Amino acid sequence: MPEDPVMAYAKAHEERHLAELFDLLRIPSVSAQPAKHGKDIERAAEFLADAMRDAGLENVRLVPTGGNPIVYGDWLHAPGAPTILCYGHYDVQPPEPLELWDSPPFEPTIRDGKIYARGATDDKGQMFTHIKAVQGVLATAGALPVNVKFLIEGEEEVGSENLERFIRANLDLLACDVVAISDSSMFDERHPAITYSLRGLVYYQIDVQGPKRDLHSGTFGGGIKNPIEALVEILDGMKDNKTGKITIPGFYDDVDITPAERKALAKLPFKERAYAKELGVPMVWGEKGWTTLERVSLRPTFEINGIWGGYQGPGAKTVLPAEAHAKVSMRLNPGQDPRKIAKLFERAVKERAHPGVKVTVTNLSGGWGAKAPLEHPAMRAGSRAIKQGFGKEPLFTAEGGSIPVVAMFQQVLGVPSVLLAYGLHDENLHAPNEHFDIGNFHKGIRTNAAFLYALAEEDLTQAKGAKGKARARKAPAKNATKRAAPAREAKAKAPAARGKKARR
Ligand code: BES
Ligand code: MN
Ligand code: MN
Repeated sequence: MPEDPVMAYAKAHEERHLAELFDLLRIPSVSAQPAKHGKDIERAAEFLADAMRDAGLENVRLVPTGGNPIVYGDWLHAPGAPTILCYGHYDVQPPEPLELWDSPPFEPTIRDGKIYARGATDDKGQMFTHIKAVQGVLATAGALPVNVKFLIEGEEEVGSENLERFIRANLDLLACDVVAISDSSMFDERHPAITYSLRGLVYYQIDVQGPKRDLHSGTFGGGIKNPIEALVEILDGMKDNKTGKITIPGFYDDVDITPAERKALAKLPFKERAYAKELGVPMVWGEKGWTTLERVSLRPTFEINGIWGGYQGPGAKTVLPAEAHAKVSMRLNPGQDPRKIAKLFERAVKERAHPGVKVTVTNLSGGWGAKAPLEHPAMRAGSRAIKQGFGKEPLFTAEGGSIPVVAMFQQVLGVPSVLLAYGLHDENLHAPNEHFDIGNFHKGIRTNAAFLYALAEEDLTQAKGAKGKARARKAPAKNATKRAAPAREAKAKAPAARGKKARR
């Protein structure tokens, strides 16, 4: 097999690959804190550009965006062969609260076969596997079996503000047959996976303004509406406490879950008690009529992410606060349009707002979910690659998290994404002590190399139908409130259609 030499190469270079990843993880490229980390963002982008050149990629450059630079590179010497676009992100979440880390977030440390560092699994470690795979194939075979392009962005964790404009302005540069992304999670440590479904997102801040200053709660209490009380009423009104159903009128209209999907999820060995125990809660809870697995993957949700206002210090301070605030988000089924949901949400807030306070809502971010066409030949290639890299067939899983660029690739470039998942759900992404399994890092590199060869064997021109269908849908919302509603999502086949199982 042509991929044997690259597998040997990957094995022989494991230590070096790890050392290079460590260098990348040492750069605190926190996109949410530009004043503090702007230089680091630049350094991380430069580091990746160097790594790409090292790997043998060409036309490598940093593209300024008005925000954080995009790193682009390609290798296009396989005429007639498919073109694959590798997407990832080099920005990371803020590491705070620092005191909860067992080792400093930007001093990568190995404990128990895992690399501990901010960005280890989301997404530096996973993304780096693609660069190393290309390097390995070029080093062993002298050429790639397919054409390859890289698009690594630095604003994913803050909503990819500039990415859509870049993609729309560079359709030729980014033209491809399929996108490869490693930025999601395996089923569990023993079951590799391809993520076939992602949820969409709508994120809001709610601000409630009461009296123009804090008031004595004895002197004024009972005289006017308390803004925290008004906020709590708004939030409480969004969900039925008995059934867990979201009460926003029209919210569930476009939810698209097939019986085959439900059947596939139900077959998985999900241990509900162990799940609750691992999370430290007395029981699972959520929308009636749906299993826990369904509720965290395909069903839409309404979550309160943060709430503040009034007195938070020690002891009792009698005060009627001037204002109250909350951050809320809705995870969406791939069939739901984030712009439509945003409108429904805003109307529901207005309806539930007490007339004695002033309520404003601000849309902070949003994006479409996505469902991959399971019958696409690139998905088959992904399956074979995982089998080679991990020694097991992948499960096809639905993730509760969001990667809005996947819908953008489908709608703007007309191509599907194969989400080769190398992370694990308990690797603390966005939390203290983020880590990445070293074994999965190396297996990921091997899988990606195998994927290039597997893709070369597939006839992706047959998939043109899927391409046309994808184009028919309009662009996803960056800012979910600003655009006209697009056509409804085309139905994708359920995972059971290929006898595969889905889970998160
Ligand atoms: N890589 C994650 C998304 C993810 C995590 C997908 C786990 C599947 C499994 C990504 O970096 C992320 O954090 N996305 C954000 C959304 C974005 C718009 C800020 C999210 O899901 O909250
Ligand atoms: Mn990510
Ligand atoms: Mn993330």
